[in-house]
Amino acid sequence: MCSIIAYKGYRDAAPLMVKALSRMEYRGYDSVGIATAHNSALIVKKGVGNVSYVNARLNLDSMQGNAGIGHTRWATHGAVNDNNAHPHVSCNGRIAVVHNGLVENHDELRFMLSKEGHVFKSETDSEVIAHLLESLPTTMDDMRHGYDSMDKAITDMLSMLNGSYSFVALTSNGMLLGARYHEPLIIGLGNPSRSKGGGDDDNNNDNNGDDDDDDYMLLVDECFIASDVLAFIEYTDKAIFLADGEVFVVRGITEACKPRLSIEIYNSRDGKAIVKEVTQIAWEFADVDKGRFAHYTLKEIHEQGHAISRAFFNADSKRLHLLVDALIDADRITITGSGSSYHAALMAKYLFSKICMLRCDAIVASEFTYNIDTYVGNGSPILFAVSQSGETADVLNAVRIARDNNFKKIASIVNSPLSTLARESDIFLSINAGPEVGVAATKSFTAQIALLYRISMEVARSKGINPPTLDIESSSINVEKMLEREAVISDLAESIKNANSIYIIAKGMHHVIALECALKLKELAYIHAEGIHAGELKHGPLALIDEKSIVIALNPMDDTYSDVITSVHEAKARGAYIIGVSDSKSSSSIYDFTLTIPRVDRLLYPLYEVIPLQLLAYHMALKRDCNPDYPRNIAKSVTVK
Ligand code: G6P
Repeated sequence: MCSIIAYKGYRDAAPLMVKALSRMEYRGYDSVGIATAHNSALIVKKGVGNVSYVNARLNLDSMQGNAGIGHTRWATHGAVNDNNAHPHVSCNGRIAVVHNGLVENHDELRFMLSKEGHVFKSETDSEVIAHLLESLPTTMDDMRHGYDSMDKAITDMLSMLNGSYSFVALTSNGMLLGARYHEPLIIGLGNPSRSKGGGDDDNNNDNNGDDDDDDYMLLVDECFIASDVLAFIEYTDKAIFLADGEVFVVRGITEACKPRLSIEIYNSRDGKAIVKEVTQIAWEFADVDKGRFAHYTLKEIHEQGHAISRAFFNADSKRLHLLVDALIDADRITITGSGSSYHAALMAKYLFSKICMLRCDAIVASEFTYNIDTYVGNGSPILFAVSQSGETADVLNAVRIARDNNFKKIASIVNSPLSTLARESDIFLSINAGPEVGVAATKSFTAQIALLYRISMEVARSKGINPPTLDIESSSINVEKMLEREAVISDLAESIKNANSIYIIAKGMHHVIALECALKLKELAYIHAEGIHAGELKHGPLALIDEKSIVIALNPMDDTYSDVITSVHEAKARGAYIIGVSDSKSSSSIYDFTLTIPRVDRLLYPLYEVIPLQLLAYHMALKRDCNPDYPRNIAKSVTVK
């Protein structure tokens, strides 16, 4: 999706924002733009391309000014072109806006504003916000501060916007104003303190008759407003997470008064000032460098040994037990997620039934609403959401539908404990995978599965069931063993790089990995790939198989082994090139190529068989000249429905 950064303080805003946008590039990379306020005027530069390309072309990082807004776009409304890139500027050139989300009634607003004489320069829904702000009865800069309620004009204006948004507006005088509704927006605070009474500031004409009532006002040396804490974590670990319906204003106050900026936050529904809690962010979020790796995706594939053990062993025990109790008490459990997280949800279905005899349904988050009747239990249903980012709109929508339908509990596992999903859940657990920047999920997927093993085992113990032995301690060694074969996998990728379609066949829980492998090949290498239940090959897909076909068979030595071999023979008889993923030496003669996996506890195979397939998709991407970190048309955090 789009990402937003805004800065106001004592540093040059532009270079800081360019860096922040690069860090958030996983969210969107169709086009990039920056506006700064300098000498009481706005400077705006924007264009199509990724951050480094647009920066090299337009010298974004040399723009002057200590206040600014920046944006990377992932197009939803309007083509990918320079005009549609953000920021969008009001007709008088004094207000620039960056927006993430979707203003659903933008056609109506555009019509109304055009009739009032506003001229639109883009096709985007976002531009209406700049014009609406311009048409406020008091100009943004004129709004006085220090009151206990927000200017009514702003609250009225926000009530006109339908849909989802987080936006930040910058005035030519360097004031920042913004709001959040169903899209993330976080304010990073440089050296914060609370205002004590506020009467010491000449500009703070508190004429509401209540001298002591303005300690809601935060004072800072500098502030950062962003879609993700990754944007500013190197400058501050203190932040405010705006909630839906909150609006903020950041202004400079008198030079004599240090700190120099005030941040006021209001509820947009009634305009009342809000005192927000300042959250301390864990510094590990700052670990977002590629290190020795060519791409984030490769780095994250290599981090999986540690990610698996951290997810399994570092689960917060108090939360874990709350979750276990909630799962045992529920009369119906529905697990949901999108993309790879949906695949983890599907895996949970297998693990819960095999390890702890819990029955549950797994459903794609965007489908939950259409099947809600199936999932409402007899009074104590639970929705269990799986999400790396915790910001995926389809998942959050499912959570809200579950709330509206009186689900007893919302539980989740997330990689971002500060995310909206974590905040909206009754119980959440972190997978502790550290930041995942590559658009395609890799370490977050295996970490989700590792945590699901742990949850299943704890449920089993609580129910008095003897859990199976799962040797997670050896995960780092096992992952390492597979990573050692990277050169061979790269050669394999070279030999099959021109494939038009790849079929991945598997049975039982391995089918989930077949789906995940197909998704990786599509996302990273733009190859059509399908995960197929091996037994279904003969019921249709076999018609597609010929000597040009590539078939990957997931075939570890468990109860699925011989049935998958039968399907392999069916494909081989039609001339397909067969890649076997197996720990069995005896079957290697059947395959044209073998990706060997370690012999592990049966339930652990999925965790390891996915790793050579991730590497294959990564190397296929390189061979086909695709950028594995930023696949075309998709975003890591999809915050629109
Ligand atoms: C996007 C990404 C996928 C990801 C999915 C769910 O579609 O491209 O890689 O699996 O979102 O993301 P989440 O953050 O909810 O796990």
